[in-house]
Amino acid sequence: METEQENVLDPFGSSTIYDYSKLFKQVGIKPITKDILDKIKNPSRFLRRGIDFGHIDFDKFVDAREKGEDIAIMTGIKPTNNFHLGSKMTAEKIIYFQKEFKAKVFYAIADLEGMVDNGLPLDKQLEIAIDNIADLLALGLDPKNAYIYRQSQERRVMNLAYLFSRRVTFNHLRNLYGKRQPGLYFAALTQCGDILMPQLPEFGGPKRVLVPIGADQAPHIFLTRDISAKMKDRFNFLPSCAIFHKFFRSLKGESKMSKRDPVSMLTLNDSPEIVRKKVMTALTGGQKTVELQRKLGGDPDKSVVYELYYYHFVDDDKKVQKVREDYKAGKLLDGEMKEEIIDIINKFLKSHQAKKKKMLPKARKILEKNI
Ligand code: TRP
Repeated sequence: METEQENVLDPFGSSTIYDYSKLFKQVGIKPITKDILDKIKNPSRFLRRGIDFGHIDFDKFVDAREKGEDIAIMTGIKPTNNFHLGSKMTAEKIIYFQKEFKAKVFYAIADLEGMVDNGLPLDKQLEIAIDNIADLLALGLDPKNAYIYRQSQERRVMNLAYLFSRRVTFNHLRNLYGKRQPGLYFAALTQCGDILMPQLPEFGGPKRVLVPIGADQAPHIFLTRDISAKMKDRFNFLPSCAIFHKFFRSLKGESKMSKRDPVSMLTLNDSPEIVRKKVMTALTGGQKTVELQRKLGGDPDKSVVYELYYYHFVDDDKKVQKVREDYKAGKLLDGEMKEEIIDIINKFLKSHQAKKKKMLPKARKILEKNI
C-alpha cells in the first residue's frame, strides 16, 4: 500500500510539499481564482502560470488597489548567500507589484534572523547584503519607491518585536513552530515586526501589505495576523495579505527546499562556464536513447531544464508552450534544449552582471546609511 506523505512546512529548516491542494485544507491558504486574476491587467508570469498557487487576502489587496488606497509590498531576505533563483523570483515579484500596482516596497535584510538562525556575524552579512541589494536594483527595483533596511539597524522593527512578545504565549509559538530555541521564536516575532512596520503612522498608517513568499513561511503570516488582531488596542493594523509560490526543484531534481544546505542551484553571480557545467548535469525528462526520444518524446514535467524556461528565464508564454510541445513530440532533444537555455541564461547574466556592477556603490550607500 502506498503511504501518503505529509507536507512539511518549516520556516527555519527544510520543507517539502507533496500535495499543494492539501495546503488549502490544512492551513487555510486559498487558491488564486480566475475572478481575482480577471481584475489584474497585466498578470506576471508567476500569476499567469499558477506558480503563485495560493493566497491569503490577495483579493482584498487587489480591491484596495482598485479603490486607489495606499498599498505596500514587503519581503525580506537573510543575507547568507548570493542571489539564487529563489531570491530572483521573489525580487521579480516585488518589482512587478511596484511597477504594475504602484505599491511601495519594503525590503528587509533579515540579519538578526541570519544571526540567530545561521550564526553569521552582522558585518559578514552586510557584505553579502550589499551584493544582494545590487542584484535587486539591477533586476529593476526603483529605490525611490522603496524602503530597504537592515533589521539590526531598524529600531522600529525591534521595538515592535518586543511589544509583540508580550502578546504571545509559549504554547502559541510552539503550536506554530514546534519546540525551538527562543532565538528562533524571536526571529519570528522580528519578522512580524517587518511585516507590520509599513502600517505604522510614519509610513502612512494602516494599509494592505502583501507578502510574496514560499509556503514554508506561512506560519509567519499566521502569527502576524494573530498578533495584529491582538494589538487592536494600540494599532489599527489591517490583517496582512500573502501570495504563495510553488517551490521549484534543484537542478538535480530534488524537491526538498532546504534553508541550511543550499541544494544545487544557479546563482546570479555564476560565470558562463559554471552555468554550462550546472545545466549540463541538470535532470531531464528524456528517454534512454535519442532514437527512443524521437519516437516517444520527453516528459517536460520531469525536466528541470524545462522548469528553467517556465519559472525563471522565459517570459513569453508562446515560446514556453512551443518548447513544451516540441519536447513532448520528440522534436526537441535534451542536448538541444540545454544548449538553448544555457544561451538564454548566459545572455541574461551577462547583461545583469554588468548592470549589477554599476549598482554596487548605490547598494552600499543604501545599507550603510543608518549606522
Ligand atoms: N524569514 C525569511 C527567510 O528565511 C526572511 C524574512 C525576514 C522575510 N523578514 C521577512 C520574508 C518579511 C518575508 C517578509 O527567507
